[in-house]
Amino acid sequence: MLYLTRREVFSASHRLYNEKYSDEENSKIFGKCSNPNGHGHNYVLEVIVKGKIDPATGYVIDLKILKQIIRENVIDKVDHKNLNVDVDFMNGLNPTAENIAIGVWNQLQNKIPSGELYSVKIYETENNYVEYRGKE
Ligand code: NI
Repeated sequence: MLYLTRREVFSASHRLYNEKYSDEENSKIFGKCSNPNGHGHNYVLEVIVKGKIDPATGYVIDLKILKQIIRENVIDKVDHKNLNVDVDFMNGLNPTAENIAIGVWNQLQNKIPSGELYSVKIYETENNYVEYRGKE
């Protein structure tokens, strides 16, 4: 079994908050990410596809095709957008790295033409990332 990774970057803003909490409580829980007017991150997305080699091509999946699928279904929707209001697949979700990873997974899950989606990683900072591997 082979695991192939495509890395993409995007920039987006968000505000993390729970409407049941006061601004002060939100600030305590979410820190800078709950700034009332939002703030931005340079996110890194890694999409890992798992599969066997196609003997005709030597590929698990053609990376040009994977890149195109990620661009159309994810990057074009999130890059330079506000994740709280601009992104259909994040509707109603608090845009934590966890929820972004799940949203991206749902966007890509049925669109991979060869191999299968194995993992979605979202790096919100250099030191923090979340990995989602579907409902295991
Ligand atoms: Ni933030």
